[in-house]
Amino acid sequence: MEGLKGLLRHVPAYVLLQRVVGADRLRYRCIEEVKPGETVLDIGCGPAYYFPRLAQPLKYHGFDTDAPYIDWANEHFGGENAGFHCGIFDEAAAGSLPPIDVVLLLGLLHHLSDEQCTDLLNLAASVLRPGGRVVSVDTCFEPTQGRISRWMSANDRGEYVREPPAFEKLALQSFDQVDGEVINDLTNIPSSHWMMRMTAPSSL
Ligand SMILES: C[S@@+](CC[C@H](N)C(=O)[O-])C[C@H]1O[C@@H](n2cnc3c(N)ncnc32)[C@H](O)[C@@H]1O
Repeated sequence: MEGLKGLLRHVPAYVLLQRVVGADRLRYRCIEEVKPGETVLDIGCGPAYYFPRLAQPLKYHGFDTDAPYIDWANEHFGGENAGFHCGIFDEAAAGSLPPIDVVLLLGLLHHLSDEQCTDLLNLAASVLRPGGRVVSVDTCFEPTQGRISRWMSANDRGEYVREPPAFEKLALQSFDQVDGEVINDLTNIPSSHWMMRMTAPSSL
């Protein structure tokens, strides 16, 4: 498993694996949320291989802590309306941004502890313009999943794969409106994901 984790730091291998397992289709489902003309913040964007599928025109700000991912994204998609930044998305980064229509957290929350999720969701809520939303998708455990899907969840790179109610509880600390669905029919290998749409930041 360590070998696979190392391989996934190699960007073309990461992108290829996403396509082979069908994880790209999960991302495409999530980014349907973005409408032309919107401003998008993508936290934990990785190489953002799904960028060409985002509705255009748009203004895009991507953040990731992994330099090779960010370098690759900048090389392929960087431009006047798309900036990729290497680093943790923190208050200083949030303060540098214009109001955001959609925050994407694609495959991030299951890498973060409860405390880190709470801090990040509060920060995401703080950058939204009125009517803005946060969209997340994560590997989850769920009661109806079969053995292969459960194995996939248990062996995910993320250390905080949760059941949907646990993700929802975290989201409800920062947002008054949270809608979610289990998605288990998009990937080529049986696996379960939890997609959430968060609106109405609690602090407003
Ligand atoms: C599973 S990858 C998802 C990448 C991309 N969003 C996708 O769907 O393909 C999670 C990414 O989150 C990044 N990450 C983890 N913690 C982070 C943090 N606190 N701030 C920014 N990025 C983070 C990792 O470097 C990794 O690239």
